[in-house]
Amino acid sequence: KKDLVVLGIETSCDDTAAAVVRADGTVLGDSVVSQHEIHQQWGGVVPNLAKEAHAAAIDGVVEKALQKAEMNPEHVDAVAVTTGPGLEICLRIGFNAAKEFCKAHRKPFVAVNHLEGHCVLARMLHRDLEYPFLVVLVSGGHCQILVAEGEGIYALLGGTLDDAIGEAYDKTARLLGLQVGGGGGPAVEQLALNGDENAYDLPMPMRDKKNCNLSYAGLKNAVRLIAETDAGRRSEDIAASFQRVAIDHLIQKLRTAMKWCEARQPGRVRSMVVCGGVAANQRLRSRLTDVCSDFEWKLVVPPPRLCTDNGAMIAWAGIERIQRGILDNPQLLEVVSRWP
Ligand code: KG4
Ligand code: ZN
Repeated sequence: KKDLVVLGIETSCDDTAAAVVRADGTVLGDSVVSQHEIHQQWGGVVPNLAKEAHAAAIDGVVEKALQKAEMNPEHVDAVAVTTGPGLEICLRIGFNAAKEFCKAHRKPFVAVNHLEGHCVLARMLHRDLEYPFLVVLVSGGHCQILVAEGEGIYALLGGTLDDAIGEAYDKTARLLGLQVGGGGGPAVEQLALNGDENAYDLPMPMRDKKNCNLSYAGLKNAVRLIAETDAGRRSEDIAASFQRVAIDHLIQKLRTAMKWCEARQPGRVRSMVVCGGVAANQRLRSRLTDVCSDFEWKLVVPPPRLCTDNGAMIAWAGIERIQRGILDNPQLLEVVSRWP
């Protein structure tokens, strides 16, 4: 049904988000309240503060998304909500809001995996994007390389063994004492523009491993060591050297993943979808453009506001599930913090 309309709700981490999306790929209305400022001073997401902020924001966010769509609850055909993975106490806020909405307005309910939302959003924006495609999820919380094989079928090729790449950017920003009003990643990227990326010989993680796993903890510790011991350091040089290794590491593992795809069946995978906050990084984007052109693959990078957590990706994942004939019974479900 092309005119199916779904309300999507997302509260798995530090963004309270909702959107009303139609099955032809149109975002009719969306709203998001970010908690970045609340957590910034603590150096990471504080679960209890996050839960309270979600609880305070959720009704207004849903109302605003509906308002922007010029719709009443009655106009919505179904509700999709993230039920994992994420912070349980946060997930429950969205889950309960969705349950209540469905009960009050007698609407069908569908549960969505947050990571699937990130993966399939590109299909909302590019309706001709065919399965299978490679997905690179790079944010403060996620760092994974997957193949989306078909609707609901994913192969995890690799992921971080410790920190996510965005987390490494954030920690580097803090070690360098940067003002991170706009987030640690952009601050490090900006500073790196004026630095010498070869000033420090930082260790390339897992260079000799032939798999697609990633690791950023060692790099972070190397940065910490320099920041703490090198009195004559130039922060620009550290930022540039960090960024060179952080991105080279990801690109190296992506090449391994792409080669694996080609070896398994040449020409079967032809596109790479990139999402998560780190996808905003210009240096990364240009490296991705190069590697995709080497392999003659298409590179798909959604606009930043759809790369980060949002309601539209959950609504769209819900639409795809409903169109496969899937609905869930919220009475039989619970939220799950771990859901690969
Ligand atoms: O997807 P996102 O908004 O939130 C979650 O992590 O869920 O991603 C935020 C992450 C932060 O770690 C931030 O530092 C990073 O993405 N980031 C960047 C850039 N912009 C945001 N990292 C590197 N370069 C950037 N330009
Ligand atoms: Zn996310």
